[in-house]
Amino acid sequence: MFRVFANGLIIFSVLFCAGRLSANPVKEKLRAYIQTHDDATLSMALRDSVGYTITLEEVKKLADEEKCQPLKRAVKAASAINGLEISQDLSLAELVQITYFIEVRLKAFIQEKKYYLPIKDSVLSRALEYDPITESVFIHLDIKNSACLGNGAKKRVTKSILYDLDHPEILARLDQTAHCRREMEMSKKLKGVNGVLQVKAYTERQEDGVNFRTMFCKLYRQGTIFQVLKNPEYKFTLKEKMHIALSIIKGLEGMQKRNIVHKDLHQHNYLVNISKRKNSSKRDIEVVIADLGLAEYIWKSRHKRPQGDTNFTPPEGIVKKLSGKAFYSTDLYAVGCLLYQICYEKMPYWQEVNYPKMANSPKERAKRLYQLIEKSTASRRFELNAKSRSAKLTPKEEFEATILQMVNPNPKKRLKVKQARKQLEEALKRVSKRRAHFQVSFLDFPYESFQLCT
Ligand SMILES: Nc1ncnc2c1ncn2[C@@H]1O[C@H](COP(=O)(O)OP(=O)(O)O)[C@@H](O)[C@H]1O
Ligand SMILES: [Mg+2]
Repeated sequence: MFRVFANGLIIFSVLFCAGRLSANPVKEKLRAYIQTHDDATLSMALRDSVGYTITLEEVKKLADEEKCQPLKRAVKAASAINGLEISQDLSLAELVQITYFIEVRLKAFIQEKKYYLPIKDSVLSRALEYDPITESVFIHLDIKNSACLGNGAKKRVTKSILYDLDHPEILARLDQTAHCRREMEMSKKLKGVNGVLQVKAYTERQEDGVNFRTMFCKLYRQGTIFQVLKNPEYKFTLKEKMHIALSIIKGLEGMQKRNIVHKDLHQHNYLVNISKRKNSSKRDIEVVIADLGLAEYIWKSRHKRPQGDTNFTPPEGIVKKLSGKAFYSTDLYAVGCLLYQICYEKMPYWQEVNYPKMANSPKERAKRLYQLIEKSTASRRFELNAKSRSAKLTPKEEFEATILQMVNPNPKKRLKVKQARKQLEEALKRVSKRRAHFQVSFLDFPYESFQLCT
């Protein structure tokens, strides 16, 4: 009996040793570091091996075998983050080293209130940041150019990963040196307003003696509406154009309800996300008003420049010193200029020519601009106006009429934001109904073939 047991033991030991010998030596090295609690060496070894000499799956197995909770969590996070298309920005090995650091060592820094960890302090390949208010951890991807989303006047916009074991997210990180308190204040006031860029977290740090403030926002993958409009790949249907217009108008209305004027509504300050729906030729389009760098309460805007970009300034903003609600109207005009471009797929003529800019005085410039706008819009506006008295305008005509009323050079005749929103909602509803009707009639046609195009 004893003999049988002893033989069994020998066979088991031989098989066990053989198994170990044939096992991945890298895995065994990592196992040894786990068993000796040598976190620093384990971290370096992870960076040297994961994705090269050992797979993430093997590391997961090892973490399970050794019941090493931090490594289990780090692997889970790395696997989720790796699914976010960041391979150009960060290798898997670098990522696992970072997630392991977050799980094992970050807490000690947070306890000492050290919330920003540059590379030189952590010896990781990316800087980390912690926001004590939302208790979020961010991995900044900004070393490589592919992580750079844009450079504004004072801002540098790059990508960061919002750390989460199950649902990590790539965010836009808007980083700027001081002087942006007002922008942050305005963003906070506009929390929850549809159609305006939402900020998920705010942080502050000092680096090399300079104060930086950062906002973390949802990433808009297609970038600015300027980038989208110049790309023929994104040609919009009438319904999509109207949907975009309504989103922007709702954002502007939300701002005006809070007594805020934007004052910088040019094409680079709207952001766009376009996502294709699964198993459908349809796509979802999300557009928001961004960059609140010049936004203010109307009572503080008195006598200030109505728009950052003079191309989007209406005639009255060139000559008069505006105050109060006059700024609502200048904002609406600026949005109107963009919607004109979206609707007609060309820049408004009055923005394209330099003739007003070459005037000798602001008065002359305003006059020239007024005339050019009238020349480009008046006849169509009258035509639509006349038709609307005897018949119902088509949704496309209603869309056009709304835009032409928004860019009316006479501020007294210009639409108010609420009215513009109502008209657009009404027109959009009718487009939806029309499309529903078409879908019944042309059930077998692909979606694109019966889109209403301008
Ligand atoms: N959330 C975002 N997603 C994608 N790109 C962004 C985002 N926020 C800003 N950007 C890019 O960064 C640029 C500068 O940002 P912006 O807030 O307009 O700064 P500035 O005040 O310096 O103009 C934008 O024009 C855009 O290209
Ligand atoms: Mg900007």
